[in-house]
Amino acid sequence: MLITFEGIDGSGKSTQARRLYEHLKNMGYKVSLYRDPGSTPLAEKIRELVLDFETDPTTELLLFETARSSLVWERVFPDLKEGKIVIIDRFIDSTVAYQGYGREINLGTVNILNHIAIRGRKPDITFLLNVPIEIAFQRLGSKKTRFEDKSYLRRVRDAYILIAHQEKERIVLIDATKSEEEVFSEIIKHLRERFQISL
Ligand code: TMP
Repeated sequence: MLITFEGIDGSGKSTQARRLYEHLKNMGYKVSLYRDPGSTPLAEKIRELVLDFETDPTTELLLFETARSSLVWERVFPDLKEGKIVIIDRFIDSTVAYQGYGREINLGTVNILNHIAIRGRKPDITFLLNVPIEIAFQRLGSKKTRFEDKSYLRRVRDAYILIAHQEKERIVLIDATKSEEEVFSEIIKHLRERFQISL
């Protein structure tokens, strides 16, 4: 099973992804946790580059997709083949929201490149952690990066909500203004109901 977490910076998605990973591991499931971009030597290098350099939107898009392709081929596919549950912090929807809606790259182009990078293997379930920009900014404090300009982030957040409505089957919209504990319980509840697994 492939589970992804999405949301704007400061939504708490990385915390929840890690909690789910620990929870599943403690329950005896074979599980791995990755971050996109990153989690292979090549993708980690690309992560550094893409976060350090301000490039034009297309170069940025290609870098994210190259990192994703490496992650999918070197980690995700082998793990899924072994029967592991794979959790990824960010994935294809980040590119639609950030590069497609945020940087205004043609959505058709983004979708084709996403499709190529993941070889058509979409996540089975995606948790979208939704918070207002103001809360995200408060949580980020001094940890802001160049991706966290307010009006840009607002476009990204609106895009995420739109994507969630377009893909209701796959994307679960979670109110991430709630406490860490409440958000986690909701995630577990969805997984139980959707996949009938004991959690
Ligand atoms: P992270 O810190 O949540 O791992 O994400 C790093 C930054 O990269 C974050 O600001 C969002 C951005 N990003 C994109 O713009 N497009 C993408 O496809 C991905 C995966 C991340």
